[in-house]
Amino acid sequence: MGKRNIILLGFMGTGKTVTGRILAERSGLELVDMDSIIEERAGCPISEIFATDGEAAFRLLERKLTQELSQREGLVISTGGGIVLNPDNLADFGRSGLLVCLTASPSVIFNRLENDQTRPLLSGDKKEQIVALLHERKPLYDSIEHQIDGDQLNPEERADAILRLYALETSN
Ligand code: S3P
Repeated sequence: MGKRNIILLGFMGTGKTVTGRILAERSGLELVDMDSIIEERAGCPISEIFATDGEAAFRLLERKLTQELSQREGLVISTGGGIVLNPDNLADFGRSGLLVCLTASPSVIFNRLENDQTRPLLSGDKKEQIVALLHERKPLYDSIEHQIDGDQLNPEERADAILRLYALETSN
């Protein structure tokens, strides 16, 4: 059997990309960033996919990519924050590896994303939208077995904690 994947989940701005980079470096697993792959294949930014084809079309692309990546091994997968909206995504990824949810408080998320122009779901009053979306998705993120607190830990510490979980899981 090949190496299980590490799947990073969590709201926008919780540090999935930076943590994923460190994890991949330290573990030797290959890093894949779902948003980047979707943009590359579509030939345009996610904001444009949302604007032209709508959110549902984007969710379908996410779903197809989840099915594809779940078949592969030895990956660190950085997901988009909305991957949890479809329970099938969590089921597929859950079979392929270790699911880890990164968390951060609304104020930390806001500070990180205050000047960001790339997230179509935060194109209005960012503070309000972050609080509302976090509230709406809370049960989905909370349902993930492993939670890593992004407010307390820096990216290196987060990666260390995840690698410990991964080692523990693969030794069982
Ligand atoms: C989204 C999060 C984004 C991106 C898209 C939708 C979401 O990814 O997939 O803008 O619904 O939370 P990040 O979590 O990497 O920002």
